[in-house]
Amino acid sequence: MGPQFYIESERSITPGNVVTYRFRTLQVSYRFPPLCFAFARSRMRSPGSVALDQRLAQTGKPANQQTRRSHMPVNRFSRRVTLALAAISVLFLLGFVRQSRGDKEANSEQVRIQRGFEIAPVSLNLGGKDRNLVGLGSYIVNTSGCIDCHTWPNWAPGGNPFLGEREQINTAVYLAGGRPLLNQPGVKSRNITPDPTFGLPAGLTLNEFMNVMHYGQDQQHPGRILQGMPWPVFGKKTDYELRAIYEYLRAIPSLPNNYQKPSNK
Ligand code: HEC
Repeated sequence: MGPQFYIESERSITPGNVVTYRFRTLQVSYRFPPLCFAFARSRMRSPGSVALDQRLAQTGKPANQQTRRSHMPVNRFSRRVTLALAAISVLFLLGFVRQSRGDKEANSEQVRIQRGFEIAPVSLNLGGKDRNLVGLGSYIVNTSGCIDCHTWPNWAPGGNPFLGEREQINTAVYLAGGRPLLNQPGVKSRNITPDPTFGLPAGLTLNEFMNVMHYGQDQQHPGRILQGMPWPVFGKKTDYELRAIYEYLRAIPSLPNNYQKPSNK
């Protein structure tokens, strides 16, 4: 039950100096969107009007012939107050509805999953994959910089947005590595597409992948710590999100290494 506002809208004075007040009830219901306002009239009576009714019952004259309406300025004022309150309620409730919709969007993982599928620049193989993880993984990979370093060059010919061209990610080498790092001579980003035999991203099992992301352990050169790869940052993601990245990398096309020698310094 929402709040109710009772506002006087009419006052009738009968010949016997009996005053009848009519009230208009404004009910605001929160329960069913869209908002519904139910205007119901209710009648409240002074004790005197009860006495009048008893008299009317005796004379047999209907009440509406006995009463006359007075349109006093206070009534118009009351109506305005009613309308103002109704308008304020509507604005307040609209704001409330919008707010809760915004919260829903902010909280919904489905929104990110959906977005992930929209922005994936390559066709995905979902066979045997967890669809939600793939979508979420795409959202993370394609919005968090993996592509910057692991796709080289970043843009297809004529598709460089920094030159004002319509953006086209270089899908021919999407996540196949090969970017030399200026501050790490001899270190190139690695091919993290699924290997052709087992479909494992960069040939890594989920466990090995977690070790890369959490500790920067070079799985191809035991004891070596990966350089240039911002694992101290990405490793702070939740394990669920890291799994999502892994699942997405399983779903993208397998490509050969985009470099002669992997970095092994
Ligand atoms: C700043 C550049 C950069 C970014 C951003 C980056 N990487 Fe890397 N990544 C590298 C480099 C460079 C290496 C190889 C480092 C070396 O050999 O010392 C690497 C290595 C890896 C490896 C190890 C591959 C193997 O063969 O063992 C994985 C897995 C990986 N990156 C995944 C990711 C993912 C997933 C993201 C995004 C969340 C990401 N990287 C973002 C630069 C980057």
